Amino acid sequence: MQAIVMTGTGGPEVLVAREVPRPRPAAGEILIRAAAIPVLYPETQLRAGAFPMATPPPVIFGFQAAGEVVEVGAGIAADLVGRRVVVSTDGSGSYAEFVCAPAQNATLIPDEVSAEDAAAAIMSGSIALTLLNTAKLTGSETVVVEAAATGVGSYLIQLAREFGAARVIATAGGPAKIEHARALGADLVIDHRNEGWTDELAERAPGTVDVVFDSIGGTSAAALLPAMTPGSGRMLSYGWLSGAPAQVSAAELIPGGLTLTACAGPAWQQRADGARTDILARVPALASPVETTLPLDQAARGHELVESRRPLGKVILRPAATA
Ligand SMILES: NC(=O)c1ccc[n+]([C@@H]2O[C@H](COP(=O)([O-])OP(=O)(O)OC[C@H]3O[C@@H](n4cnc5c(N)ncnc54)[C@H](OP(=O)(O)O)[C@@H]3O)[C@@H](O)[C@H]2O)c1
Repeated sequence: MQAIVMTGTGGPEVLVAREVPRPRPAAGEILIRAAAIPVLYPETQLRAGAFPMATPPPVIFGFQAAGEVVEVGAGIAADLVGRRVVVSTDGSGSYAEFVCAPAQNATLIPDEVSAEDAAAAIMSGSIALTLLNTAKLTGSETVVVEAAATGVGSYLIQLAREFGAARVIATAGGPAKIEHARALGADLVIDHRNEGWTDELAERAPGTVDVVFDSIGGTSAAALLPAMTPGSGRMLSYGWLSGAPAQVSAAELIPGGLTLTACAGPAWQQRADGARTDILARVPALASPVETTLPLDQAARGHELVESRRPLGKVILRPAATA
């Protein structure tokens, strides 16, 4: 079968298409014929060497895939064969025509949802639902959604009102992304590529932001504290697009009675996994999450696209056999 092998850490060129043996499911696993494989932002960082890989290269790259179950390992009910699922691997192996994954990491795809949409929505949407459940919005609150035009942010904008937000302020980079965040439902969008965007936000919503969904992190997190509601403002920190997690100290939070919740780690991930069925059921009512579909052998191009920050949705890889 064709697979994308990560030959080392580095630029997108380390992702190389190769012919490799088709895997067989071990006990507790399923094998799917992949129809849609999402290129995830954290994968680009792993490929670049920002974090260690669980299995060192050379290794078949990739974390998630959607497709049809074609074989099950020992201990797994045979009636799963033929069902469409999205799977998460144990850290490698999804950029391939056939993908093995633990059966417990599979989520059934509803009939009315395409494999592409399911693959594009599952990670971002399940994280957004878990963030919104954690925020416990009251119905009259203002939220800030950072990097809101795509991924997790795009689902936060679309779902925030249902979960109790009255006003949604978004940040996005450049005119096209700003327009997209508005179209998704943001009331106000601030360009986070402008130096001083945190000052602009604090000026336009002084002391009135109840919840910040922080995906940029770094020094901008502390700079947003003056915009937050004293006594009840909560920052939910889940990403570090700037290259560093939120740099906020207890000494900065305490005077304003603000809180910061770390939304990462194994227990968090377990909660997010529990939201996967919910987000797939919601996909038909939400904006299409797919920007581009590329052949699997153009995985390196997919990574270049994600790193360019141009796409307004997910980049999906499609194996030739299902094209
Ligand atoms: N804690 C968790 O469980 C969890 C789960 C999933 C993702 N994450 C993290 O959440 C963040 C967002 O992930 P995602 O999947 O939503 O991303 P995504 O859709 O792939 O896109 C990220 C967006 O962030 C913006 N961006 C990229 N580099 C940036 C930078 N240096 N500074 C500011 N903005 C930047 C880009 O928007 P503009 O072009 O508009 O700037 C891009 O559209 C990432 O840090 C990711 O690792 C965390």
